[in-house]
Amino acid sequence: MKYNILFVCLGNICRSPSGEAVLNAKLKEYGLDKDVFVDSAGTSGYHEGEPADGRMQTHAIKRGFNLTSISRQVSMSDFDKFDYIIAMDQNNYRNLYNLTSVKEYQDKISLMTDFSSLYTGDVPDPYYGGAQGFETVLDILEDSVDGLIESLKSQI
Ligand code: 4NP
Repeated sequence: MKYNILFVCLGNICRSPSGEAVLNAKLKEYGLDKDVFVDSAGTSGYHEGEPADGRMQTHAIKRGFNLTSISRQVSMSDFDKFDYIIAMDQNNYRNLYNLTSVKEYQDKISLMTDFSSLYTGDVPDPYYGGAQGFETVLDILEDSVDGLIESLKSQI
């Protein structure tokens, strides 16, 4: 069984590419990388074709996470392809939810912190803030991805 997981934020240059890299690294650590395909996308197409934000890359690489993805906008075919569609904040969640009226697709959408044991609510948008914002994103993602891995381990 192969699971397909899509992380979604607004620009697909900060939070969701980081979620993708953190999950890929932890899947490798647990020997689950062959069982799960991970991707990321943005609800907007503002940064389509761009690599991850340089500030986000700098903070992530210090924790060993290499951000390699190129920004793309979410598409309707993603609802078919992916088993879990994980939004970084409640705005992204709502925007995804409103893209489809198909219940089976809406049921695939969750919030990143739904998997966290320490955090609730949004992974805050770091784009217009300072260095601490990028660290906070990584703290929340690391804890949430640990929870996501536990959930996947019980299903694989
Ligand atoms: P992301 O961060 O949604 O985590 O990729 C943002 C990136 C760009 C913008 C906003 C948030 N922007 O307004 O361009």
